[in-house]
Amino acid sequence: MSNLQGKVALVTGASKGIGAAIARELAARGAAVAVNYSGSKAAAEKVVADIKNAGGKAIAVQANLSETGSIGQLVESVAREFGPINVLVNNAGVYEFSPIEAVTPDHFHKQFNLNVLGLLMTTQAALKHFDSRGGSVINIGSVAAAGVPTASVYSATKGAVDSITVALAGELGAKKIRVNSLNPGMVETEGVHAAGFIGSDFEKKTAAETPLGRIGQPRDISLIAAFLASDDSYWVTGQLIKASGGARL
Ligand SMILES: NC(=O)c1ccc[n+]([C@@H]2O[C@H](COP(=O)([O-])OP(=O)(O)OC[C@H]3O[C@@H](n4cnc5c(N)ncnc54)[C@H](OP(=O)(O)O)[C@@H]3O)[C@@H](O)[C@H]2O)c1
Repeated sequence: MSNLQGKVALVTGASKGIGAAIARELAARGAAVAVNYSGSKAAAEKVVADIKNAGGKAIAVQANLSETGSIGQLVESVAREFGPINVLVNNAGVYEFSPIEAVTPDHFHKQFNLNVLGLLMTTQAALKHFDSRGGSVINIGSVAAAGVPTASVYSATKGAVDSITVALAGELGAKKIRVNSLNPGMVETEGVHAAGFIGSDFEKKTAAETPLGRIGQPRDISLIAAFLASDDSYWVTGQLIKASGGARL
């Protein structure tokens, strides 16, 4: 099991779903974890309480990453509490479906402002708090980067995330900072429940088309994030890693 003792991790959007599972997994392996949330204070505090009750270290930090002005304070409060950051998990994201006829500038900006601009500016701000040891940036993309019908905008945000991963891996390698995309297929989370996917034909079709025969659970993703966060993956950078039970979409 990858060891994260002595590491400091910031996980964005960690009050729920995939982000919460990643925060719990990194903390269970010894990292001090900052659990970022936007609106779900109680859920974030529950994640932190569970981590602390299990003997781990965590804090909850509020910041709406769609508003770039709040990002500096987020990373500064993490560094003040725990010291230099070694692991950044850019997980916060929104997904909305819309056929092309119904795409609006609001639909575009809501998703691009968080999934792409928020990710870029959080990375820029967090990198100021990495030290000479370098570290690992894990961008949570999606298999949807391949292009999902009726989700042109969301797919495009995740295509952009993949491009950013490859660009930054090239840019930051000399500083011993690795950058990888971890790209889930459908995962059962609060967000996916709220979107009405669970129990739908879309879920059934996805499970049927998945070689491993089911949709994902948050832990399926968090175990891979723990590997990418750890020094065990020191030779892996610039990779787009599908975590989907073999599903292409
Ligand atoms: N679930 C899937 O099937 C799936 C598949 C592929 C990729 N993904 C990607 O995985 C990531 C997480 O998805 P999920 O299904 O776990 O989502 P989720 O259950 O909807 O949870 C989203 C998390 O992001 C936070 N968040 C939302 N807006 C935010 C903002 N403006 N600033 C900061 N945090 C914000 C939420 O916090 P608050 O509630 O506090 O706002 C929550 O903790 C996303 O990037 C998504 O695109 C998911």
